[in-house]
This record gives sequence, structure tokens and C-alpha cells, in this order.
Amino acid sequence: MANKFGEAISIIREAFHEPEAFIPLHEPRFIGNEKRYVLDAIDSTFVSSVGKYVDTFEKMMGEMTGAKFAIATVNGTAALHIALLIAGVKNGDEVITQPITFVATSNAISYCGAGLAFVDVDLDTMGMSPASLEAFLTKHCEKKDGGIFNKSTGRRIAACVPMHTFGMPCHIEKIAEICELFGVPLVEDSAESLGSYYNGKHTGTFGELGIFSFNGNKTITSGGGGAIVTDDEQLAKLAKHITTTAKIPHKWEYEHDMVGYNYRMPNLNAALACAQLEKLNFFIENKRELAAHYNEVFPKIGIPFTTEIERAKANYWLMVVRLQDEAEKNQFLQETNGSKVMTRPIWRLLNKLPMYNNSFCMPLSNSLELEATVVNIPSSARI
Ligand SMILES: Cc1ncc(COP(=O)(O)O)c(C=O)c1O
Repeated sequence: MANKFGEAISIIREAFHEPEAFIPLHEPRFIGNEKRYVLDAIDSTFVSSVGKYVDTFEKMMGEMTGAKFAIATVNGTAALHIALLIAGVKNGDEVITQPITFVATSNAISYCGAGLAFVDVDLDTMGMSPASLEAFLTKHCEKKDGGIFNKSTGRRIAACVPMHTFGMPCHIEKIAEICELFGVPLVEDSAESLGSYYNGKHTGTFGELGIFSFNGNKTITSGGGGAIVTDDEQLAKLAKHITTTAKIPHKWEYEHDMVGYNYRMPNLNAALACAQLEKLNFFIENKRELAAHYNEVFPKIGIPFTTEIERAKANYWLMVVRLQDEAEKNQFLQETNGSKVMTRPIWRLLNKLPMYNNSFCMPLSNSLELEATVVNIPSSARI
């Protein structure tokens, strides 16, 4: 086994042309107009929530994703919080999501005062399983006046939040169909999947709303940042209003007509985001080449590499190998990190965390299997 892991370390070191030094999991690359735009934002004195880069970034995000509207936010968690609020999630409701995701997904649901219902994921996509979602809605929920309710918790199902894990599109068309059938608003957590498509359509655009993150660890970064996308003009207007303290535009008066949030992306971050977005396609093609290489060599040493499903085009944000079991996974983590090649396990299942362990859960065998066997390996664009 040690030999196999030694070979894995060599594969990664050779791919990055790095014989000795530390190799991180994912590094940002600033190879375009980043410094120029950030300095320009500073010179303009517009460094906070007003400025040309925020507006430009929103326009570019609309063009990139094909969504009619994009609203820039301070981070992806804030974007998801607002997307859920304007999708109609209220205190005491319940939101369906998957246990395999970053904790921000369930935190944003909790900020709305809603409980969680965890459905399983698929092994091929690591994202929400349409079969588990359908089984939950048909076997555990009932239609009543005012919507569809979880029979065990009595809570109204207010939204469904699938997540495109590590940038791999999940079976989103099927999920959208099921949500439509049951009248459940679909809010996609596409924080990790900018530049990922299913059937030629950008992730985040299959439901009422989608969100993205531009944290420093993502495919492109604004330092910190997020975005909401939607085709619905009313929702877009409300998202902009609520993320800018719900201030009614006026030259000098302070009028606010609801509880708003200070969630707008600062112009300084948007300057960085614009420059990064210009390079997105280059980064993705570069990462897809690395993924193709990994996919050729890892299976030869008996370590499966996870690839996109048919009809999907993934951004390969964080690349995934699968170990045989928990023991082999732990040894792989030990040996790679011990050799300064950074690897990380998948997240602890959210239903196991103390604040979410009372949530409603469907059978989660696939999630448990992935928790035991998935490891992320170095995935940066190679410049
Ligand atoms: C799946 C998922 N949802 C939400 C977020 C939250 O984004 P942010 O860190 O920008 O708040 C992240 C990333 O950090 C994420 O990976």
C-alpha cells in the first residue's frame, strides 16, 4: 500500500513540476488585470458598496451564467441566506438539502429560522440524489393547504437546496422536475460550480435562484464575495434591495422599508472579481487538462479518480480520488500530507454536527460511503 501511495505522491509532484516544495490543495492565480483594476478602484475612492466594478461584475456574471440578473454579495453564505429568504423561507419552515456539503449551506438555512431535512446524495455526482428527494417528498410529506409538509416534523417544506459538489454538476434536471411537480422552490447552491454545465445550461440557473462563492479557495476569487443569479426580475430587485440595507434611493434621506442587510460586495473586491472572471475559461481548461491526466494515471495504480457524469461539463474545482475504506483513506491523508502534498477528506456529514444532529434524515448510505472514502487532491490551475 505504501508503494501505491508513493506513486500517488509522484504523480501529483510530476503534474505540478514540483519535486520537493509544499503543494497546496488549491491556490488562486493572479495573472491578468487584477492589480490594474484594484489600483483603479482605489484611485477612484469608490472602495465600498458603490462603484463601477460591482456593476460590471454583475453584468459579467449574467453573461457568464446565462442568467438574466446577477446580484453581487459579500460572500456566498450571505448570497444563500438572501436567496432563501426571498424564495419564501420563513421561521419554522423546513428546507431540504444534502448532508455532503460545506457547513455554510445549512448555516444559511438556519439563519432563516428553518429546520433541515437531509436527503441522500448519488455516488456518481456526490450531489443530491433525485431518487432520495422523490422518496422523501412522496413517502414522508403530505400536501395540505399552504403547501407540502413533513409528516414527522409538521414543518412546511419551503425550499430544496442541492449542491454541485466540488464543481461536479448533480442530476439537476431531474431534481428541478421533482421540485416543480411538488411545488417546492429550487435554490441551487452552486458556490463551487462556476463554469460547470449540465446539458449545456449553467449550474445555478435551473431553479428560482442560484448562488456562487468567490472565496479565496474557489476557482476564481474576489478575496471574499458571492453572487445570486435569477431570471426573475422581481426577485432580482428584491435581492438588490435587501442586500443594500433596504434603503429607498434618495439623494440625502435615510428611508428603509424593511429589515435589510449590509451584504453588498465592495467595489474593491469586485475589481479583483472582474479581472479573475476574465480568466475563468483559461483556468477551467487548464484544470480540465489536469483532471484528464489524473484520470489516465490514477486508475493504473488502483486509485479511482472521479469524473463528470454524461451530459455534464465540470469545472473540476477540487479533484477527487476514492480510497477503499476509512483506514486506507486515513493512511493516504497521513502519507500525502506528511510528504507536503496537501490532501483533505470530504466534510464531516452535516447531520453529525452538534447543531444539526436532530434534523430529519432519509437513509444516507451513499453519503456515509463517500464520507469514508473521498479525498481531495491538489487541483490548482498550473501556470
Ligand atoms: C457549498 C458551499 N456553499 C456555500 C459556501 C459559502 O461561501 P462563502 O465562503 O463565500 O461564504 C461555500 C464555500 O465556501 C461552499 O463550498
